[in-house]
Amino acid sequence: MDLLKGKVALVTGAARGIGRMIALRFAQEGADVAFTDLSRDDNMDTLEKELEALGVKGKGYVSDASDYEQTHQVVDQVVADFEKVDVLVNNAGITRDTLLMRMDEDMWDLVIKVNLKSVFNFTKAVQKYMLKARTGSIINMSSVVGVNGNAGQSNYSASKAGILGFTKSIAKELGSRSVRCNAIAPGFIITDMTGKLPENVKEEWIKTIPLKRGGLPEDVANVSLFLASDLSSYMTGQTLQVCGGMSV
Ligand code: NAI
Repeated sequence: MDLLKGKVALVTGAARGIGRMIALRFAQEGADVAFTDLSRDDNMDTLEKELEALGVKGKGYVSDASDYEQTHQVVDQVVADFEKVDVLVNNAGITRDTLLMRMDEDMWDLVIKVNLKSVFNFTKAVQKYMLKARTGSIINMSSVVGVNGNAGQSNYSASKAGILGFTKSIAKELGSRSVRCNAIAPGFIITDMTGKLPENVKEEWIKTIPLKRGGLPEDVANVSLFLASDLSSYMTGQTLQVCGGMSV
Protein backbone atom coordinates (compact mmCIF):
# COMPACT_ATOMS: atom_id res chain seq x y z
CA MET A 1 0.00 0.00 0.00
CA ASP A 2 1.09 3.56 -0.56
CA LEU A 3 -0.72 5.53 2.13
CA LEU A 4 2.22 7.92 2.61
CA LYS A 5 3.69 8.01 -0.90
CA GLY A 6 5.37 11.36 -1.59
CA LYS A 7 5.35 12.37 2.07
CA VAL A 8 8.30 13.10 4.35
CA ALA A 9 8.05 12.05 7.99
CA LEU A 10 10.24 13.11 10.92
CA VAL A 11 10.18 10.82 13.98
CA THR A 12 12.01 11.74 17.21
CA GLY A 13 13.70 9.19 19.47
CA ALA A 14 13.36 6.51 16.81
CA ALA A 15 16.53 4.42 17.03
CA ARG A 16 14.61 1.76 18.95
CA GLY A 17 11.22 0.84 20.41
CA ILE A 18 7.96 2.42 19.28
CA GLY A 19 9.65 5.18 17.26
CA ARG A 20 11.69 2.67 15.26
CA MET A 21 8.58 0.70 14.37
CA ILE A 22 6.75 3.89 13.34
CA ALA A 23 9.64 4.83 11.03
CA LEU A 24 9.57 1.39 9.40
CA ARG A 25 5.76 1.29 9.09
CA PHE A 26 5.74 4.72 7.44
CA ALA A 27 8.48 3.61 5.03
CA GLN A 28 6.46 0.53 4.10
CA GLU A 29 3.77 2.97 2.98
CA GLY A 30 6.17 4.93 0.81
CA ALA A 31 7.25 7.79 3.11
CA ASP A 32 10.79 9.11 3.18
CA VAL A 33 11.82 9.09 6.85
CA ALA A 34 14.13 11.34 8.84
CA PHE A 35 14.59 10.33 12.45
CA THR A 36 16.49 11.53 15.50
CA ASP A 37 18.07 10.01 18.57
CA LEU A 38 20.61 10.94 21.22
CA SER A 39 23.63 9.29 19.61
CA ARG A 40 24.84 7.60 16.46
CA ASP A 41 25.11 3.94 17.35
CA ASP A 42 24.36 0.54 15.80
CA ASN A 43 20.62 1.12 16.26
CA MET A 44 20.73 4.31 14.18
CA ASP A 45 22.91 2.75 11.47
CA THR A 46 20.71 -0.35 11.28
CA LEU A 47 17.48 1.63 11.00
CA GLU A 48 18.92 3.74 8.19
CA LYS A 49 19.79 0.54 6.30
CA GLU A 50 16.37 -0.99 6.97
CA LEU A 51 14.62 2.13 5.68
CA GLU A 52 16.74 2.25 2.53
CA ALA A 53 16.01 -1.47 1.98
CA LEU A 54 12.33 -0.55 1.80
CA GLY A 55 13.12 1.68 -1.18
CA VAL A 56 12.74 5.06 0.53
CA LYS A 57 15.15 7.71 1.72
CA GLY A 58 16.02 7.18 5.40
CA LYS A 59 18.41 9.24 7.50
CA GLY A 60 19.20 9.43 11.21
CA TYR A 61 20.19 12.66 12.96
CA VAL A 62 21.87 13.04 16.35
CA SER A 63 19.83 15.46 18.42
CA ASP A 64 18.68 15.91 21.99
CA ALA A 65 14.96 16.63 21.56
CA SER A 66 14.87 18.53 24.84
CA ASP A 67 17.37 21.13 23.55
CA TYR A 68 15.70 24.09 21.83
CA GLU A 69 18.67 25.21 19.72
CA GLN A 70 19.62 21.70 18.61
CA THR A 71 16.03 21.03 17.61
CA HIS A 72 15.82 24.06 15.36
CA GLN A 73 19.14 23.17 13.77
CA VAL A 74 18.14 19.57 13.10
CA VAL A 75 14.73 20.49 11.66
CA ASP A 76 16.35 23.00 9.28
CA GLN A 77 18.86 20.32 8.28
CA VAL A 78 16.08 17.77 7.66
CA VAL A 79 14.24 20.27 5.44
CA ALA A 80 17.52 20.99 3.58
CA ASP A 81 18.00 17.25 3.01
CA PHE A 82 14.37 16.18 2.39
CA GLU A 83 12.85 19.50 1.14
CA LYS A 84 9.84 19.39 3.49
CA VAL A 85 8.23 17.74 6.52
CA ASP A 86 4.65 16.48 6.09
CA VAL A 87 4.45 14.39 9.26
CA LEU A 88 6.08 14.99 12.65
CA VAL A 89 5.94 12.30 15.33
CA ASN A 90 7.03 13.58 18.74
CA ASN A 91 7.97 10.21 20.16
CA ALA A 92 11.13 10.73 22.28
CA GLY A 93 10.43 10.06 25.93
CA ILE A 94 11.90 8.76 29.18
CA THR A 95 10.81 7.63 32.65
CA ARG A 96 12.30 8.33 36.07
CA ASP A 97 9.75 6.51 38.22
CA THR A 98 9.39 6.77 41.96
CA LEU A 99 6.90 7.89 44.58
CA LEU A 100 6.65 11.61 45.17
CA MET A 101 8.26 11.26 48.62
CA ARG A 102 11.45 9.97 46.97
CA MET A 103 11.36 12.06 43.79
CA ASP A 104 14.07 14.69 43.69
CA GLU A 105 14.02 17.91 41.70
CA ASP A 106 16.28 16.53 38.96
CA MET A 107 13.94 13.58 38.28
CA TRP A 108 11.05 15.99 37.88
CA ASP A 109 12.92 18.51 35.72
CA LEU A 110 14.48 15.94 33.39
CA VAL A 111 11.23 14.11 32.62
CA ILE A 112 9.35 17.36 31.97
CA LYS A 113 12.17 18.62 29.76
CA VAL A 114 12.61 15.47 27.69
CA ASN A 115 8.94 14.48 27.39
CA LEU A 116 7.12 17.83 27.26
CA LYS A 117 9.54 20.56 26.25
CA SER A 118 10.72 18.39 23.34
CA VAL A 119 7.18 18.45 21.94
CA PHE A 120 7.18 22.26 22.08
CA ASN A 121 10.66 22.38 20.52
CA PHE A 122 9.90 20.19 17.51
CA THR A 123 6.38 21.45 16.90
CA LYS A 124 7.58 25.05 16.96
CA ALA A 125 10.51 24.30 14.63
CA VAL A 126 8.35 22.38 12.14
CA GLN A 127 5.26 24.57 12.17
CA LYS A 128 6.65 27.30 9.91
CA TYR A 129 7.26 24.75 7.16
CA MET A 130 3.85 23.11 7.59
CA LEU A 131 2.03 26.45 7.71
CA LYS A 132 3.73 27.53 4.49
CA ALA A 133 2.82 24.22 2.83
CA ARG A 134 -0.73 24.47 4.22
CA THR A 135 -0.67 20.81 5.16
CA GLY A 136 0.79 18.65 7.90
CA SER A 137 0.09 16.03 10.53
CA ILE A 138 1.65 16.25 13.99
CA ILE A 139 1.40 13.20 16.24
CA ASN A 140 2.35 13.47 19.91
CA MET A 141 3.14 10.37 21.95
CA SER A 142 1.32 10.72 25.25
CA SER A 143 0.34 7.77 27.47
CA VAL A 144 -2.68 6.33 29.28
CA VAL A 145 -0.75 7.45 32.36
CA GLY A 146 -1.21 11.02 31.14
CA VAL A 147 -4.96 10.42 30.92
CA ASN A 148 -5.47 8.50 34.16
CA GLY A 149 -2.41 9.15 36.36
CA ASN A 150 -0.33 6.41 37.97
CA ALA A 151 1.22 6.04 41.43
CA GLY A 152 5.00 6.28 41.14
CA GLN A 153 4.89 8.24 37.89
CA SER A 154 3.77 11.74 38.88
CA ASN A 155 6.52 13.37 36.78
CA TYR A 156 5.84 11.17 33.75
CA SER A 157 2.07 11.52 34.11
CA ALA A 158 2.30 15.32 34.35
CA SER A 159 4.50 15.45 31.23
CA LYS A 160 2.12 13.21 29.26
CA ALA A 161 -0.99 15.11 30.44
CA GLY A 162 0.77 18.34 29.42
CA ILE A 163 1.17 16.89 25.93
CA LEU A 164 -2.61 16.44 25.69
CA GLY A 165 -3.27 20.11 26.52
CA PHE A 166 -0.60 21.17 24.03
CA THR A 167 -2.08 18.92 21.34
CA LYS A 168 -5.57 20.41 21.69
CA SER A 169 -4.21 23.97 21.67
CA ILE A 170 -2.08 23.41 18.57
CA ALA A 171 -5.04 21.77 16.80
CA LYS A 172 -6.97 25.00 17.40
CA GLU A 173 -4.07 27.23 16.35
CA LEU A 174 -3.11 25.44 13.14
CA GLY A 175 -6.41 23.94 11.96
CA SER A 176 -7.28 26.79 9.62
CA ARG A 177 -4.13 26.00 7.60
CA SER A 178 -4.99 22.26 7.37
CA VAL A 179 -2.27 21.31 9.83
CA ARG A 180 -3.62 18.60 12.14
CA CYS A 181 -2.34 17.72 15.59
CA ASN A 182 -3.39 14.57 17.44
CA ALA A 183 -2.08 12.47 20.32
CA ILE A 184 -1.70 8.76 20.91
CA ALA A 185 -1.96 7.38 24.43
CA PRO A 186 -0.37 3.92 24.43
CA GLY A 187 -1.00 1.60 27.35
CA PHE A 188 1.51 -1.09 28.28
CA ILE A 189 3.73 -1.60 25.23
CA ILE A 190 6.57 -4.14 25.26
CA THR A 191 9.81 -2.16 24.66
CA ASP A 192 13.05 -1.41 26.53
CA MET A 193 11.14 1.22 28.53
CA THR A 194 8.76 -1.34 30.06
CA GLY A 195 11.44 -4.07 30.03
CA LYS A 196 12.94 -2.33 33.06
CA LEU A 197 9.86 -3.21 35.17
CA PRO A 198 9.98 -6.27 37.44
CA GLU A 199 8.21 -9.39 36.06
CA ASN A 200 5.55 -9.42 38.78
CA VAL A 201 4.65 -5.79 38.05
CA LYS A 202 4.32 -6.61 34.33
CA GLU A 203 2.09 -9.61 35.09
CA GLU A 204 -0.17 -7.47 37.28
CA TRP A 205 -0.50 -4.84 34.54
CA ILE A 206 -1.39 -7.46 31.94
CA LYS A 207 -4.14 -8.91 34.17
CA THR A 208 -5.90 -5.53 34.07
CA ILE A 209 -5.90 -5.36 30.25
CA PRO A 210 -9.11 -6.62 28.57
CA LEU A 211 -7.11 -7.94 25.58
CA LYS A 212 -4.86 -9.82 28.08
CA ARG A 213 -1.53 -8.99 26.47
CA GLY A 214 1.01 -6.20 26.37
CA GLY A 215 0.90 -4.09 23.23
CA LEU A 216 3.51 -4.36 20.50
CA PRO A 217 5.30 -1.41 18.91
CA GLU A 218 3.45 -2.44 15.71
CA ASP A 219 0.11 -1.76 17.44
CA VAL A 220 1.14 1.85 18.05
CA ALA A 221 2.78 2.20 14.64
CA ASN A 222 -0.44 1.22 12.85
CA VAL A 223 -2.45 3.90 14.66
CA SER A 224 0.34 6.41 13.95
CA LEU A 225 0.04 5.51 10.28
CA PHE A 226 -3.69 6.24 10.38
CA LEU A 227 -3.09 9.67 11.96
CA ALA A 228 -0.22 10.45 9.58
CA SER A 229 -2.19 9.57 6.47
CA ASP A 230 -5.09 11.27 4.76
CA LEU A 231 -7.38 8.53 6.14
CA SER A 232 -7.68 10.77 9.23
CA SER A 233 -8.02 14.04 7.29
CA TYR A 234 -11.01 15.24 9.36
CA MET A 235 -9.44 14.48 12.76
CA THR A 236 -7.53 16.97 14.87
CA GLY A 237 -7.09 17.62 18.60
CA GLN A 238 -7.94 14.01 19.43
CA THR A 239 -6.31 11.41 21.68
CA LEU A 240 -6.40 7.80 20.50
CA GLN A 241 -5.80 5.29 23.29
CA VAL A 242 -3.87 2.23 22.11
CA CYS A 243 -4.07 0.22 25.29
CA GLY A 244 -5.90 -3.08 24.74
CA GLY A 245 -8.87 -1.58 26.58
CA MET A 246 -6.85 -0.87 29.75
CA SER A 247 -8.48 2.55 30.21
CA VAL A 248 -12.06 1.38 29.71
P1 NAI B 1 12.32 3.39 24.49
O1 NAI B 1 13.02 3.76 25.74
O2 NAI B 1 12.37 2.00 24.01
O3 NAI B 1 12.79 4.35 23.29
C1 NAI B 1 12.83 5.74 23.45
C2 NAI B 1 13.82 6.32 22.47
O4 NAI B 1 13.86 7.75 22.68
C3 NAI B 1 15.24 5.79 22.65
O5 NAI B 1 15.80 5.44 21.40
C4 NAI B 1 15.96 6.95 23.32
O6 NAI B 1 17.35 7.00 23.05
C5 NAI B 1 15.22 8.14 22.71
N1 NAI B 1 15.39 9.37 23.49
C6 NAI B 1 15.34 9.50 24.84
N2 NAI B 1 15.57 10.77 25.19
C7 NAI B 1 15.78 11.46 24.05
C8 NAI B 1 16.08 12.81 23.76
N3 NAI B 1 16.24 13.72 24.72
N4 NAI B 1 16.23 13.18 22.47
C9 NAI B 1 16.11 12.27 21.47
N5 NAI B 1 15.82 10.98 21.69
C10 NAI B 1 15.66 10.57 22.96
O7 NAI B 1 10.80 3.87 24.71
P2 NAI B 1 9.46 3.45 23.97
O8 NAI B 1 8.75 2.48 24.82
O9 NAI B 1 9.72 3.13 22.56
O10 NAI B 1 8.66 4.82 24.08
C11 NAI B 1 8.46 5.73 23.01
C12 NAI B 1 7.45 6.77 23.42
O11 NAI B 1 6.21 6.13 23.76
C13 NAI B 1 7.87 7.56 24.68
O12 NAI B 1 7.43 8.90 24.55
C14 NAI B 1 7.08 6.89 25.78
O13 NAI B 1 6.85 7.74 26.87
C15 NAI B 1 5.81 6.53 25.05
N6 NAI B 1 5.05 5.47 25.70
C16 NAI B 1 5.58 4.22 25.86
C17 NAI B 1 4.83 3.24 26.50
C18 NAI B 1 5.35 1.86 26.71
O14 NAI B 1 4.64 1.08 27.39
N7 NAI B 1 6.50 1.47 26.19
C19 NAI B 1 3.48 3.51 26.99
C20 NAI B 1 3.02 4.85 26.75
C21 NAI B 1 3.79 5.78 26.12
